[in-house]
Amino acid sequence: MPAYGVIGAQWGDEGKGKVVDYLAERADMVVRFSGGNNAGHTVINAKGEFKLHLVPSGVFWPQSMSLIGPGVVLDPGLLLHEIEELEAQGVDTSRLFISDRAHVVMPYHVQLDQLEERARGSAAIGTTGRGIGPTYMDKVARVGIRVSDLLEEGYLAKRLDVVAKQKNALLTKVYGAEPIDTGKLYAQMLEYGIRLRRYVVSTETIIGEALAKDARVVLEGAQGALLDVDHGTYPYVTSSSSTIGGACTGLGIAPWQIKSIVGVYKAYSTRVGAGPMTTELNDEVAHTIRERAWEYGTTTGRPRRVGWFDGVAARYSAMINGYTSAVLTRLDVLDGLPSIKVCVAYKLDGKRVNQFPSNPDAMERCKPILEEMPGWTRPTAGATKIKQLPAEALNYVRKLESLIGAPIDLISTGPRREESIAVRPIIRPRRPAKSD
Ligand code: GDP
Ligand code: IMO
Ligand code: MG
Repeated sequence: MPAYGVIGAQWGDEGKGKVVDYLAERADMVVRFSGGNNAGHTVINAKGEFKLHLVPSGVFWPQSMSLIGPGVVLDPGLLLHEIEELEAQGVDTSRLFISDRAHVVMPYHVQLDQLEERARGSAAIGTTGRGIGPTYMDKVARVGIRVSDLLEEGYLAKRLDVVAKQKNALLTKVYGAEPIDTGKLYAQMLEYGIRLRRYVVSTETIIGEALAKDARVVLEGAQGALLDVDHGTYPYVTSSSSTIGGACTGLGIAPWQIKSIVGVYKAYSTRVGAGPMTTELNDEVAHTIRERAWEYGTTTGRPRRVGWFDGVAARYSAMINGYTSAVLTRLDVLDGLPSIKVCVAYKLDGKRVNQFPSNPDAMERCKPILEEMPGWTRPTAGATKIKQLPAEALNYVRKLESLIGAPIDLISTGPRREESIAVRPIIRPRRPAKSD
């Protein structure tokens, strides 16, 4: 004890990067447990502006170790590039380590992700095209390649032999694409193995020992609860467990070791890719928010869909994760709007419902029941104290808190680390060491 889980509570891009960078000041370790470089986490601090895809967002703090756990799928070329870029910007990555058990995103996974999306036509999921789904498919089908395999020449050759036969049949016979050049792929993966060797460890051992010594371990979620493969808006989801349970399976820690479960909510809704979004707006308000807040994907640059805060989805997210705290981000984006709407329930086939439906067609038929609240004219942007918030903004925060059903312990009022209001500490400051 103790681990602190920080989970995206909506459809991703809630500001997890900003929040983890902020919280990591008091952490000994920040760990990614799921997803891959479909994630794009933005951090803005004194060192600059960073878009992280695989490297944990605690990397900027010298006392904090950064780990990529077994549940993550890892594109080796991209990780090496990300490390190089960080180093070039003066960020020390010497305390970054990756799990020997993490699965590798291979070039054929990226290719298959794109081919599968094209084949889906109008039913496309709108994936990030980074090979994430196919890599998790292979992991579960037991034909995946793991980080440790890149370090074992003989074993890698044997594994690739089996996999290449299967993938070549798929590539050539189903998709009419070129087969894999196995020799070239083998050489490239061995080279990645050589370059990654110094980072490869048993993360279970490091985290287990740290927790046994009472170190503070922040579990950095990727994506969001509503993109979770079991609990999200299936099939418009990612292929991993982005809810808190994914931290236990993705790292090898026990539920009782997690002291706090923090759900990060944006003050409104956004979504990238296809799938139901009951509160979606296609009007001037959506346009204003998208341009003002630059709601474009951190990884793919796609415009994000924008809508009002969805209280039904928010409560569902809190239920399946058991948040002990909520964080509210991007409150400042709503500054100056004359009024703000909040979805408090859905209307489905003429009936009021409070439950989040499992069927995407039913979700598409849901209409939001909206409550209108007054906006505020005095800006919240950059506020660092709760008393700086206009009464209407505070009223809005309280409304969301009651819809979520967990206390909002941190409010973010801008993209920079310091643009934050600590309502209650999520990670307490360390007790000073006792002296004789
Ligand atoms: P993540 O994937 O959850 O880490 O979120 P992204 O980085 O993809 O997207 C969140 C965006 O919101 C980034 O551009 C952040 O810099 C920005 N951001 C985070 N918190 C705030 C905030 O409180 N106010 C504003 N204006 N921007 C924020
Ligand atoms: P962060 O960690 C927002 C979405 C994609 C698509 C669906 C499946 O930055 O919040 P995938 O490539 O995972 O198979 O795509 O999931 N998606 C995200 N949306 N933020 C993310 O990560 C996302 N990662 C995946 O847009 O709809
Ligand atoms: Mg993002």
